[in-house]
Amino acid sequence: MAEWVAVCRLDEIKEGRGVSRDAAGVRVAVFRSGDQVFVLSGRCPHANGPLGLGWVEDGEAVCPLHRWRFRLEDGRCSTVRGHNVHRFRSEIRGDEVWALV
Ligand code: FES
Repeated sequence: MAEWVAVCRLDEIKEGRGVSRDAAGVRVAVFRSGDQVFVLSGRCPHANGPLGLGWVEDGEAVCPLHRWRFRLEDGRCSTVRGHNVHRFRSEIRGDEVWALV
């Protein structure tokens, strides 16, 4: 059963950079683009790379290992079709990011 958990503080996420966190035992990658925050699965489907150590380019998260790209909006992989990551529901509560994991 999914539950809402605090993932990180808003000020820990630098514009254009990812943050890697463990949320209730689930590895997640948090990104910020403008005033929006996105929480994706933190394990890249290519070779299990740490997506949260990646960065943002043109609305997509870029994996730091081999640069596969995933749309922030829905986790769809634009590098190799069908290798998507899960996007978790998330919201900003005060100065924290919460996700439904
Ligand atoms: S592990 Fe992410 S692109 Fe290879």
